[in-house]
Amino acid sequence: MKIGVIGTGYVGLIQAVGLASFNYEVVGIDIDSSKIEKLKKGISPLYEESLEDILKKHVNKNLIFSTDYNLLKDIDIIFLCVGTPQDKSGKANLSFLFSAVEN
Ligand SMILES: NC(=O)c1ccc[n+]([C@@H]2O[C@H](COP(=O)([O-])OP(=O)(O)OC[C@H]3O[C@@H](n4cnc5c(N)ncnc54)[C@H](O)[C@@H]3O)[C@@H](O)[C@H]2O)c1
Repeated sequence: MKIGVIGTGYVGLIQAVGLASFNYEVVGIDIDSSKIEKLKKGISPLYEESLEDILKKHVNKNLIFSTDYNLLKDIDIIFLCVGTPQDKSGKANLSFLFSAVEN
């Protein structure tokens, strides 16, 4: 089974690396190209215990990172993990989510 994860922040990166550690084929997509370049080299932009070790073990094998949504064409399941920051009124800003769905 091939799994896509859109948004490789706190939720998405853990999700992508965790699923790859169970030997699923995983594609992680993000619009932040500097983050994606780091991830392709096995460098985690955030700290969680053991995260970078597991990332290094699976990256460029069964775990691919890209800014290219075309890599999601033959994917079975997609997890949407983009940010939904609160605005001043406390409402969630869903614009990142809608943009990801459109892409
Ligand atoms: N972090 C937590 O502990 C936590 C807990 C519970 C729920 N959540 C929810 O999970 C969701 C994700 O939170 P997070 O903390 O991982 O956010 P985050 O800000 O750490 O990561 C979001 C990622 O999405 C990327 N992104 C934004 N728009 C995109 C698009 N169109 N296509 C691809 N990538 C895009 C950003 O570049 C960023 O890397 C939010 O809805 C949040 O409320 C988070």
